[in-house]
Order: sequence, then C-alpha cells, then structure tokens
Amino acid sequence: MHSFRYVNDQLTCENVPLAALADAVGTPAYVYSAETIRTNFRRLDRALAPLDHRICFAVKANSNLAVLNLLAGEGAGFDIVSGGELFRVQRAGGDAGHCTFAGVGKTRAEIEQALRAGVHCFNVESEAELAFIDEVAGQLGLVAPVAVRVNPDVDAGTHKYISTGKSKNKFGIGLDRAEQVYREAAARKNLRIVGVQTHIGSQILDPKPFAEAVAKLIPLVETLKAAYNLEFFSIGGGIGIVYDPALASGDPAWWNAADHPRRITPEAYAEAVVPLLLPLGLKILLEPGRFLVGNAGALLAEVLYVKETPTKRFSIVDAAMNDLIRPALYEGYHEIHPLTQSTAAPVVQDVVGPVCESGDFFAQDRPLAPLAAGDLIALLSAGAYGFVMSSTYNSRPLLPEVLVEGDTWRIIRERQTYEDLVRGEIIPEQ
Ligand code: LLP
Repeated sequence: MHSFRYVNDQLTCENVPLAALADAVGTPAYVYSAETIRTNFRRLDRALAPLDHRICFAVKANSNLAVLNLLAGEGAGFDIVSGGELFRVQRAGGDAGHCTFAGVGKTRAEIEQALRAGVHCFNVESEAELAFIDEVAGQLGLVAPVAVRVNPDVDAGTHKYISTGKSKNKFGIGLDRAEQVYREAAARKNLRIVGVQTHIGSQILDPKPFAEAVAKLIPLVETLKAAYNLEFFSIGGGIGIVYDPALASGDPAWWNAADHPRRITPEAYAEAVVPLLLPLGLKILLEPGRFLVGNAGALLAEVLYVKETPTKRFSIVDAAMNDLIRPALYEGYHEIHPLTQSTAAPVVQDVVGPVCESGDFFAQDRPLAPLAAGDLIALLSAGAYGFVMSSTYNSRPLLPEVLVEGDTWRIIRERQTYEDLVRGEIIPEQ
C-alpha cells in the first residue's frame, strides 16, 4: 500500500501535489506519507492479532524523529542497533523499555547507555559479547536482559548483502550451539535470559522462508522456555515490499492495484507463521523496517540535463548516489515517475546523478517518459534505507525530509547548509 498517485496528471502524496512541494522545499528532497506508515503498521498489527505480540520498528530503516514519534504513537517498540538509535528513540518520545538492542559489535559505552536506559533486551550475537555484557552489567551493579540471536541456516532467497540467516553469515549463533550458549548465559550472574531471537534477511517476498525458520527454531524455543522461563520469541524483520511493479505483477499500472501473489502481504505472512507460533504461548516480537516505511517515501529530483551519446540517452538529475545508494549498492530498483504525468511514448534511458562515479545511477536502460531539463521526477519506495544511508560524498549537503499528512506537509529535517557541512572540521594552527 502507498499513497502516491496521479490526480489530474499531477503526482500527489496523499492530497499534496508533489510539484508544489518540490517548488516550496527545492530538490532533491525526501517526502514521506504518514498515512502509508500508519496503514502499514495497523495492517500488520491486525494480521498478528491472534498472537500476544509487539512490532518493534527497525530504526535503521528510517530514523527521522518524526517517523519514530509517529510509530511510537501507534504503540510500536523499536529495534535498535546503536547508542545513536537509542538516543533518537528517546528523543522522539519512544520508550527505552520497548527497545531491543541488536548488532554484532556493541561497544562498552553503548552497553552502559542501554543498561542505564533500561532497554527491554540485548540481542546477543556471540559468546564473547555475552561475557562482555555480563562484565559491564556487573560493573554497573545491574542485570542485563538478554536473548541470543540464533541463526537457523535457511535461505531467504534475497540479495546476498541482505541475507543473514545462512550459517556462512556473520550473524547469530548456530542452531547446534544455541543450547550451550544459553547454558553459559544462565551461569552468568549479571544476565537474565528473557528471549530467543532470529532474523533471516531483508526484502523477502515469500512467506515460506519465514515459516521455515520459525519451524526450525520451535523445538529449541520450547526447550529454552521450559528451562529459563522465557518471555518472548523475536522472529526478526525482513518482510519485503514491491519495488518493481512489472516484476511483482507483470502490470506496470499498479497504482491502485490489489495485492498480487508475488507481493508478500501481512496477511500471507501471518498465515504462514501464526499457526506455528500460537502453541508456544510466548510473546512474539517482530522487527520490520522496510515493510512499514519503504513504500511510504519518495525522493524528488529535478532533471538538469539530457545527454545523448551514439548509444545512450542519459537524464542527469540533481539527486545522486550519496542521497540514495540502493541502486549502486544492491542494484536496487526504484520506480521513477515524472511529477507531471506524460502521455508521450517511453524512451529507453539511464537516469544518473552528478557524482563522479559510474555507479551513480538510478536506472539503466529503462523505458521511461522522455524527460527534459527542468522536469521533476519521483523515485518511489525510497522511505526505507534511503535518507538513513545517505552521505555528504562530493560535499553534497544532506537532503531535507518532509512528512505529508492529508492536505498538509511539514519539514521534518532541514536541508543541510554549507556551514553544516564543515561543522566540527578544524584547520590546525601553524
Ligand atoms: N532485524 C535485524 C536483526 C536486521 O538486521 C534488520 C535489517 C531488520 C530487523 C529489519 O529488516 P527489514 O524489515 O527492514 O527488512 N540497506 C538494505 C537493507 C539492510 C537490512 C539490514 N538489516 C537495503 O537497502 O535493502
């Protein structure tokens, strides 16, 4: 579901025409729909209603304070991976007590910060980390709530950079060693075992690997529940979204399309995992990031030049790989639409940014409406892993972010200035 559609040839987000917004804010800029985020959250929440559950938004997907605040208002917990993310959640009005702290490389400072804040749980990824959290908690005179991330060794069928549940990945503890690691955890004075965690990867479009992972872990979870009085089983994130409608449905006109079989839905996901999880009688945590915010965001850009070579047509836009790195990093696909709908026959073109790297592209050899200098475009499905992965490479200031709600929009992050760009830099005195 998303809230970007053409109304009278104008691409709108909810009720806001994006061309007017681009005029007011300038380009490039990120825009998010509050309605899409809320609808996605509520739909997933409803689908999981048979379970005692909590949706912990994976903050890494989009950490803008306004987005976190909106989700906290919906009752979300948060899946965090750094002290910075914990700081953001608290600043946004979220509850540290509903945060699970994941990641393979937590530092002493981060562990102390999370213990003092009273996070719900540390998701632990190695024996060394278990020992270290025990030590830090002991030094503070606190007890750390822990869950071990167990790697079920299933193939999530997703891009190799975002697949995490195979035994060759750096994540979690193998199923064969999990019980031993729990025994070790139980023997440590400053740890309290509260759960089991797993996560198999991201952008997964088929419910089957989720069910497979859950089914593989259930015997272990049952054993651990009996031994340690577990509170929860966290089944991670990873629910995919539609990036390429042609791939998803064979029909590019998907604007208002109903759900398609190639498109994982909250209901299909729930149908696959709920029957397996219900008999456990445990609280179930989820850590979706992309599903909640991915299709809620677009990156607006302006065409600067059109360049024709004997073999190619390039539309050079003012956004670049530093603003949205997914195409360069994962060959990620983002739909591109002109803000004013065109009836002209599509022409095959590359859409590229101004950065001096061949990897700086948003589309290659893609049939799109013929674009001209001055045209405005939207790159869709940019709400997850978009702004958060941006950088100031080429000394390009970070972009503004805008939140649309019905007829209104608000800037939720100001565009960086050149002064912001050099803040903190020091020329040593001679
Ligand atoms: N839980 C854990 C332990 C994770 O590692 C992740 C994502 C999530 C939850 C949330 O996954 P999601 O529901 O968003 O799929 N930058 C990449 C995606 C990296 C995902 C990293 N881990 C991209 O743009 O595709």
